[in-house]
Amino acid sequence: MAERLQVVLARAGVASRHQAERLIREGRVTVNGQVVRKLGTHVVWGQDAIRVDNRLICRLEPKVTVVLNKPKRVLSTSHDPRGRPTTAELVRKIKAHIFPVGRLDYHTEGLLILTNDGELAQHLQHPRYGIPKTYRAKVKGMPAAEVLQSLRSGVMLDSKRTAPAQVKKIGTTGKNTWLEITIKEGRNRQVRRMCWAVGHPVLKLKRTRYGPIRLGDLKPGTYRDLTPAEMEKLRKYVA
Ligand code: URA
Repeated sequence: MAERLQVVLARAGVASRHQAERLIREGRVTVNGQVVRKLGTHVVWGQDAIRVDNRLICRLEPKVTVVLNKPKRVLSTSHDPRGRPTTAELVRKIKAHIFPVGRLDYHTEGLLILTNDGELAQHLQHPRYGIPKTYRAKVKGMPAAEVLQSLRSGVMLDSKRTAPAQVKKIGTTGKNTWLEITIKEGRNRQVRRMCWAVGHPVLKLKRTRYGPIRLGDLKPGTYRDLTPAEMEKLRKYVA
């Protein structure tokens, strides 16, 4: 994530915030080889090469993007004060500071992208690009055709109708139903709330697809690098 240069310098232990501002004004700080004198210039730790008096203070991290199959009962954060398992623990072998692109609920499993590429992460989550995300949801009961239609055309959540969605019935247990739902928004607990709103609470939820990226047969708790072809497709989505 982009942060102000003087804040990054202070956090890196180079100087106090006040001293860091002075170093910047004195022209002693460069970002990617350019002298920066403007206070508040935004930089990304790990991605921008920041030097003070020509000394590199910010280690450059290569860009790393992985896809994780988040298991149920794992938080999409780096730390939980209540000690619950987090996605950060699942990817701890990766040296780069990667973070999740958006979130999956604690009880949702499936495809989660993690990256240290702040710009990519920001774009992927921006409503402007409306990246489609596909979920398999086991819902209670047997929703009628009209109910599926209302999920498709939009339901009211917090006084705002959800955008059109794709909804397909893909199976039934006799008592409950499996749906495949593709949404382009990323509202909080959206799939669960949509299904709840039409009277069919979600019993299980798994994300299987994020734009061009598919979960495939990745086992819960494991991850893999995105292939160069997948990276290329992802970048095209937000170009
Ligand atoms: N919708 C939900 O309800 N939960 C998720 O984790 C993702 C989408």
